[in-house]
Amino acid sequence: MTDTSTSFSGVTAQAKELDDAYVMHTYGRLPVEFVSGKGAELTDVNGKVYLDFLAGIGCASLGHANPVIAQAVKEQLDRVWQVGNYYYVEHRGDLAQKLSQLLSTTTDELGHVTGSTGSVWKTFFANSGAEANEGALKVARRWGERKLDGAAGIISARQSFHGRTLATLAATGQDVFHKSFGPFPQGFDYVPLNDLDALTKMVDAGGACAVMLECVQGEGGVWPADLDYLRSVRKLCDERGLLFVVDEVQTGFFRCGAPFSFQLAGIEPDVVSMAKGIASGFPMGGVAARAELGDLLVPGDHGSTFGGNALAAAAGLATVEEMLSTGLGEHVIATGAHLAQKLTELPHVTEVRGRGLMRGAQFDAPIATALVDEGLAEGLVLNHIGDSILRFLPPLVVSDEQIDTMAERLARLIDKVA
Ligand SMILES: Cc1ncc(COP(=O)(O)O)c(C=O)c1O
Repeated sequence: MTDTSTSFSGVTAQAKELDDAYVMHTYGRLPVEFVSGKGAELTDVNGKVYLDFLAGIGCASLGHANPVIAQAVKEQLDRVWQVGNYYYVEHRGDLAQKLSQLLSTTTDELGHVTGSTGSVWKTFFANSGAEANEGALKVARRWGERKLDGAAGIISARQSFHGRTLATLAATGQDVFHKSFGPFPQGFDYVPLNDLDALTKMVDAGGACAVMLECVQGEGGVWPADLDYLRSVRKLCDERGLLFVVDEVQTGFFRCGAPFSFQLAGIEPDVVSMAKGIASGFPMGGVAARAELGDLLVPGDHGSTFGGNALAAAAGLATVEEMLSTGLGEHVIATGAHLAQKLTELPHVTEVRGRGLMRGAQFDAPIATALVDEGLAEGLVLNHIGDSILRFLPPLVVSDEQIDTMAERLARLIDKVA
């Protein structure tokens, strides 16, 4: 295997020096400094152009610096940014109404829209995915307090990822995240994904108020929940009176073809958390609950200084409107299938998982890190999970031609490092 640690640099010495000296080292950084972007392309400080298959970790869904969203934010910048949640602001209600429409959409198993459930959803706006999930956990625990004799247990899946706050780390079903920073909030249990018997046993052991799942586990390695499993979980929660919470932080906003990935299974959850794609990369998150549950939290129960402020609301509303008016879902279904096909044809790939434009390629050798490092020299922004999985989350506006170019470059790289 090639040593790639010093083979490429698209970052200025000053940027690296300052970052190393003054920014907390919670991330290992790659040696590149991006200064601009357009669509699915990023440009570094030296003017080199890259094809981006990560999209700011799944956020820049409409492409980098999308002019429509930029214009909406610019207009809001000149008006008012932040007044606090004691007041009404433009766009927040419109965005929540659009989210309600998106959440009640029905689709087939590929994501083609078929209609609406007619449900009304209410949203609490936050600033990130972890905060969105904190809100979801509070709704679930209030439900347990009111309807299930104080049951407070949350059952989530092994290999899940729900965020970096203490409660969302506790909800994250990976031991590696539970080694430091304890004690964690109590009441979290884990079951293997797609194992209905294990889930039923745990629910029947008592004490749980909610089941919390990602429909495709992202950070855990791109592991999809079976659509039949999701339908069975819905049924189980209905029968036992538990809430079904779906974490759509990574899978939402057409990432998997449908507006939200639970729609592929033809189900409707009780609570849905979201972030990443909601505002084109502007920091925003939200937790939505069907209207009858959305009133479980009352004034004083939950809050956020910045959540749903005027700038974020403008970015979010423009994003959702643009997604709907450009027929993004159909584009994702088509390009997602093309991406999956291209990845399947690559050497050393043993399995391609995922849905829409959220894909994982499993390799038969520990070459994923080297591919990410070498990818930069080849003008590719790639992402690995562990040693043998590449995860692909391109901007949803990526074209078939860009996918073809990425696959050609990646095939060359695989030959080089394998
Ligand atoms: C499914 C899921 N939930 C929650 C989070 C946490 O989101 P954030 O980093 O915005 O707090 C992530 C982040 O990757 C995620 O993929």
